[in-house]
Amino acid sequence: MKNHLETKLAHIQDFATRKDPYGASHFPIYNTGTFDLKKQDGEKVYDYTRSDNPTREVLENLFTNVENGAGCVCTHTGIASVALLFETVLKANAHVLVEADCYGGTFRLLKIFKEKYNVTVHFADFLDFDNLENILKNNPIDLVLCESPTNPGLKIIDLKEVATLSHKYDALFAVDNSLATFISQRPLDLGADFSLFSTTKYISGHGGVIAGAIVAKTQKNADEIHYYANANGRSQNPMDVFLISLGIPTLKVRMKEHGKNALEIATFLEKQDYISKVTYPALKSHAQFELAHQQMDYIPGLFTADFTSVELAEKFIENAKLFGEKCSFGSPDSRAEIPAKISHATFSVEELAAIGITSSTVRFSIGLENIEDLLRDIREAVK
Ligand SMILES: Cc1ncc(COP(=O)(O)O)c(C=O)c1O
Repeated sequence: MKNHLETKLAHIQDFATRKDPYGASHFPIYNTGTFDLKKQDGEKVYDYTRSDNPTREVLENLFTNVENGAGCVCTHTGIASVALLFETVLKANAHVLVEADCYGGTFRLLKIFKEKYNVTVHFADFLDFDNLENILKNNPIDLVLCESPTNPGLKIIDLKEVATLSHKYDALFAVDNSLATFISQRPLDLGADFSLFSTTKYISGHGGVIAGAIVAKTQKNADEIHYYANANGRSQNPMDVFLISLGIPTLKVRMKEHGKNALEIATFLEKQDYISKVTYPALKSHAQFELAHQQMDYIPGLFTADFTSVELAEKFIENAKLFGEKCSFGSPDSRAEIPAKISHATFSVEELAAIGITSSTVRFSIGLENIEDLLRDIREAVK
């Protein structure tokens, strides 16, 4: 019988390519640049850490397994996994179709590809299938890319439908799975060609390291990402692999707790007169509540709340003691930030307005603190 996901995560060392001769409970860190070709007798021979490293391979084997792919590359940052995707599949003059509500760093990277390689970027609302099909029908789209839930708009994209539509027009489909993570959602099972993610967030879970990964569904695409990762130097260093791996066995319990705390706070905020709207897929008021629960096993602890004025939003951020004004999400400490100012500052006011984000929208990443402490902190911050 196949083990469940959390069992695999708890036994991460079983994903090492070779058994550890000492039975160590954590896999060894091969913090080396080179390997002596004359001194290896296994099936797999290593030569240089940029190409392959037995420590990095543990994570790559694990991610390939849990995402049901053919191969994976662990990258030095999350945005490097997005860059690696573009470097692998896009040629000069390519066309990309991207959900307009995307991470600010992805948006900036797309601008660079547009300016340097004449890539045409079509931004669209992925909830509007007629428009999506129209764009796919009338343009030679090479790659379709979205997050789900989107960040910061928290839309739920029907990944199965978008995969089918992309393939109908011979486009590859990639999903940025940073927010949901493989513990909640497996994009390759829903038809995507690539699942990529920042492991900086929930996967490492402790805010102490920056990294990412990309998993390909087919062997051909897996070989290509591996080729470009080596050529462009995108691979992750073994020490960071170790740091990321420390959080992995507890991913499921953390994700459940983040979601539980977030739902309590979102429900509380929804009833306050200083809040005009809360957008959280775990709330019944969310337009894709049903799809969110169908597509994800756990709803992550990220949501937005629109304050009734910019002044109130800023007052809350200024006064809150337990909510750091920090970007990123998925750490044990709660965070509250204004996306227009921090995480999505690369967007113009108009571009943010188009995805429903204003200067009084606060993005919350709810941590693992005691719920009463968080609620008290919010009450005191808005007094
Ligand atoms: C959805 C999403 N993708 C990718 C990234 C980039 O990850 P990293 O910061 O690890 O480079 C982020 C970072 O916030 C993100 O939110």
